Amino acid sequence: MYDFSKRRSIRRYKTEDVCDDLLNSLLMRASHTQTMGNLQLYSVVVTRNQDIKRQLSPAHYNQPMVTQAPVVLTFCADFRRTTDWALQRNANPGYDNLLSFQNACTDTLLYCQTFCNMAEEEGLGLCFLGTTLYNSDAIIDILQLPVLTFPVATITLGWPNEEGKVSDRLPLCAIRHDEVYRPFNAERINASYSEREALEESKHFVEENHKDNLAQVFTDIRYSADDNLNISVALDGAMRRQGFQGSLIGEMTRQRPESLECDIVRFQNKKERWVAFVGLWKNRPYEIFTGILDDDDGIMIPKSVSKGYIVKRLLGDGSRRYDFQFVNKRGYKITIEGLSERFNPEYWNYAKLISGVLRYGMPLERVIALIKSLQLDSDNINSWTSGVAKALKRYINGGQLEDKDTETQED
Ligand SMILES: Cc1cc2nc3c(=O)[nH]c(=O)nc-3n(C[C@H](O)[C@H](O)[C@H](O)COP(=O)(O)O)c2cc1C
Repeated sequence: MYDFSKRRSIRRYKTEDVCDDLLNSLLMRASHTQTMGNLQLYSVVVTRNQDIKRQLSPAHYNQPMVTQAPVVLTFCADFRRTTDWALQRNANPGYDNLLSFQNACTDTLLYCQTFCNMAEEEGLGLCFLGTTLYNSDAIIDILQLPVLTFPVATITLGWPNEEGKVSDRLPLCAIRHDEVYRPFNAERINASYSEREALEESKHFVEENHKDNLAQVFTDIRYSADDNLNISVALDGAMRRQGFQGSLIGEMTRQRPESLECDIVRFQNKKERWVAFVGLWKNRPYEIFTGILDDDDGIMIPKSVSKGYIVKRLLGDGSRRYDFQFVNKRGYKITIEGLSERFNPEYWNYAKLISGVLRYGMPLERVIALIKSLQLDSDNINSWTSGVAKALKRYINGGQLEDKDTETQED
């Protein structure tokens, strides 16, 4: 029986191939691992071609296993296949979001790990390459991964040509918590890490990196904050490129419903009374329109109205129009048509820019800081931006109106 406590990564391989029959058998057997809804949200790209391995190699920081192993396997999160299945069966898929990405990654890693366990049981040697996430863009290009797929893990696979070394593991007290999570005070950190810190190889590691301790080797050299941030930015870009938009943002930008709930925020711009229509998507500002209140040419809204709907209409000539709808005290639905035409074009343009920023999910605090930092020539516009900033400030904290700043309210 395979003794799991002796397992170790293998980074040198014999030239002997891993035949396709064995590989297929492992890939099929591993597919009995659990997955979300039994959807099997993964795919594997098998690379045997030396030229493609050479192309992949820089994406894995030229770790020699990539070109040396007879087989390189790239395990990909895959919602493409499920989405295509749905589309071809008149079903309506909605998997271009963060949750779907996470679920597909979970399926992929479960499958990958099951495969690894089975391959090692067959006597094969392998090494997991986390670098797959570090240079995902390059891997996506080389392996021609379509939208809604994402490379999550790479395994180099072959017959071992080294003994390898069984690594230490943290003790049970480092990973087990009974009933609730128990914080790591100094005593518990010592109990968890001192054995590892005392290893000769750890001391050597600290010395050769000119650090004070092992933790510093990890924070300053192996996985530094700067590297993590830079790689995160690239990863985020690659996720978007592959159609997983990272959050609700994808949904927000994809399909504005014809009608959006909106709050009415009244504010003072110099001597004039103004109104902002803040269109909301899932309680978050999605767009903002502003105009002069109660002017001949402006917008007439009863004082009692503080909520309504912004309705976007597509006109016959391809242009768009925004209307405002509200229910009056008697329960009648009133529509103010052509909101957009009632706006001063200059303010309209600024509001469009601000709406664009909101729609793409910039955190509200940042949007407000950006608006406040606008240096504009006219006093009126400056007073307008501060009104708009105040109108938006109310939505910080997940859509709960918190700032009842009287300056923005008409009373
Ligand atoms: C997420 C992840 C990323 C890894 N990335 C690499 C890698 O890029 N290169 C490498 O040689 N080993 C990599 N490994 C293997 C680990 O270094 C190895 O599993 C760990 O040091 C424990 O050693 P063992 O597998 O021999 O028990 C990775 C493992 C995981 C789980």
